[in-house]
Amino acid sequence: MATAIAHPNFALIKYWGKADSRLNVPAAGSISLTVDKLTTKTTINFNAHLKADAVWLNGKQLENPELTRLRSFLDLIREVAGESRRAEVVSSNNFPNAAGVASSSSGFAALSLAASSAIGLRLTSGELSTIARRGSGSAARSIYGGFVELVAGDRADGRDSIAKPIADEKFWPLSILIAITSFEFKKTGSTNGMNLTSETSPYYSAWVESTRQDLPEMRAAIEARNFTKVGELMEHSCLKMHGAMLSARPGLIYWNAGTLEIIEAIKDLRKQGHEAYFTIDAGPQVKILCRDLTKPAVLEALDGCSKVAEIIDAKPGPGAFVLED
Ligand code: PMV
Repeated sequence: MATAIAHPNFALIKYWGKADSRLNVPAAGSISLTVDKLTTKTTINFNAHLKADAVWLNGKQLENPELTRLRSFLDLIREVAGESRRAEVVSSNNFPNAAGVASSSSGFAALSLAASSAIGLRLTSGELSTIARRGSGSAARSIYGGFVELVAGDRADGRDSIAKPIADEKFWPLSILIAITSFEFKKTGSTNGMNLTSETSPYYSAWVESTRQDLPEMRAAIEARNFTKVGELMEHSCLKMHGAMLSARPGLIYWNAGTLEIIEAIKDLRKQGHEAYFTIDAGPQVKILCRDLTKPAVLEALDGCSKVAEIIDAKPGPGAFVLED
């Protein structure tokens, strides 16, 4: 039995498309920032008497299709460890699931770490990230704290598609304000959305190619603590990803009216000299990156947005860890 904690991360350079769907290898690398405040806590118990894996998420027992996805993921860990026992998993988030708040990133990172420690697998963080990646690409990045890169790699078996730390959570104390505009489940999950985009968008190859070029620029901007450059590149990657999504057939629209209201508010703030930047994932929530100095102005602007239901005020957070009792 083991319990692990992990925090979600938000991509500054987005991942949207797979080179290999079975091995869950991304078509291009991505760069993210792990945040504090939002937390997934997962306990796993392998038990020889269990006939099948059972999973509880936020107090509810999981059913198909999510249960099958979780069981296949546990099979993968069992295969690596030569383990045959089934498991009971109890996991909870202190934030909304599946609405673009990156719950799969912290979810699969916590599960990978809890399961591998319960079985007694001694893995490096890099090895652990390749396992977490099989559950969800973004989960590989939540193994580490702070700024993290998931490298696409070029091996056919995907073993070099691994997360690498760029700078830890103490490197740059930025603020990340997460504005929730809806608590509804997203209509199209990321795997289906990525497949639809890669199969039908005429912009897909340009999206992948230009993301490869954005990666070294973002890495350098983070290392130089160049806030303007990080913010501009982050917004560009976000809008470019949503451009590829919108151009799929049928088009994928993850935004709602609240999302657009916030985008306008952030652009207005910049015109008034308050530097803040937005990013949006596969859902209608908006994450705003700013320095502490600008936070009061951003909070005031969000206060003026009629469709903001909740604001989570976060900072860079640590990587996944095992909770000792
Ligand atoms: O890792 P997944 O399958 O949940 O996909 C993540 C997709 C985005 O959040 C939209 C982008 C990213 O890089 O996190």
